[in-house]
Amino acid sequence: MTHQERMPRTRTYLMCPPRHFTVEYAINPWMDPSVAVDGGLALKQWEQLRDALTDLGHTVHTLDPEPGLPDMVFAANGAFSVDGVVYGARFRHPQRAPEAAFHRAFYAGGAWDFREPHHVNEGEGDFAYLPGAYGGLILAGYGFRTEPAAHAEAQDVLGRPVVSLHLVDASYYHLDTALAALDDANVVYYPEAFSPASQRVLRQLFPDAVLADRADAEAFGLNLVGDGRHVVLNTEATGMAGKLRAAGYEPVPVELGELKRGGGSVKCAVAELRA
Ligand code: ARG
Repeated sequence: MTHQERMPRTRTYLMCPPRHFTVEYAINPWMDPSVAVDGGLALKQWEQLRDALTDLGHTVHTLDPEPGLPDMVFAANGAFSVDGVVYGARFRHPQRAPEAAFHRAFYAGGAWDFREPHHVNEGEGDFAYLPGAYGGLILAGYGFRTEPAAHAEAQDVLGRPVVSLHLVDASYYHLDTALAALDDANVVYYPEAFSPASQRVLRQLFPDAVLADRADAEAFGLNLVGDGRHVVLNTEATGMAGKLRAAGYEPVPVELGELKRGGGSVKCAVAELRA
C-alpha cells in the first residue's frame, strides 16, 4: 500500500487531565512509588498530547480528574464503546475501582446505551475494535487485568465477535501495551507479549500486521493512537516510528515521559468514543 492510500478518519476521544497524577501505589511493574512524579510536567505533556490530537482534526472531550484517584489520567481504562453501546469497566485493583463511576456519569450525560459490567475488565486497556476487519472485530486481552468472562460479556453486550488473546509478560499487562489498531483493519503488535497460541491467532487474522520488537515495547511504542494515517506515539519509541513510516503511516511523536512512571503512554490516556 502506498502512502497516499493511508486515509485518516476523524475520531472523537475522551481524556482526563493529570491534575492529581502521582505514583503512590504499584499495581504494574513500571510504577515505583519511591520516585517523585513532576505533576506540572505531566500536565504539560498531557496538554501537548491533547493538542496533537486536535491539530489532526480530532475532537477531544475531557473528564474532570478526581483528587485521590491518581491513575484517572489513564482514561482508556474507564469503558469500551462500539456504535453507541458502552460496556462499562470494573477495575481489578481497589485503588482504581471508584474511577468507573465517573466514566459512567460521563456517558449518562450523552446519548449512549451504557451497560454495567458483571466481570472485571479495564475498558480499552484490554479491548480494541477494528471496524473494518471481518465485518467488525473486537480483540481482547486477558492474563493480568481483564477476566476472560468479560470477553464473553463484551460479545453479548456489543454484538461483535471477540477474539481472546493471552498476555504472558507482566510488563505488558494490558492489551494496549502490546497491540494497537493502526487503522480500521490492521494492527501492530509485539508477538512475545502473547502466548504461542495467541501469536498463531494473530498471524492468521492479521497477515499484514506491523511487528514490533522488545525495544519498541519497552519504549511503550505499542501504546499508540492511530487514525488510519497518523500514528501518535511517544518520542522515546523511535524504532517503532521507523517501522510505521516504512509501512506507510505517518508518526506523530509526543513527549510523555512522566506518564510512563505510571505504566502508561499515549493510548492509555485516550479512550475512543464510538457513537
Ligand atoms: N497505573 C495504571 C494501572 O496500572 C496504568 C494504566 C495504563 N492504562 C492502559 N490502558 N494501559 O492501572
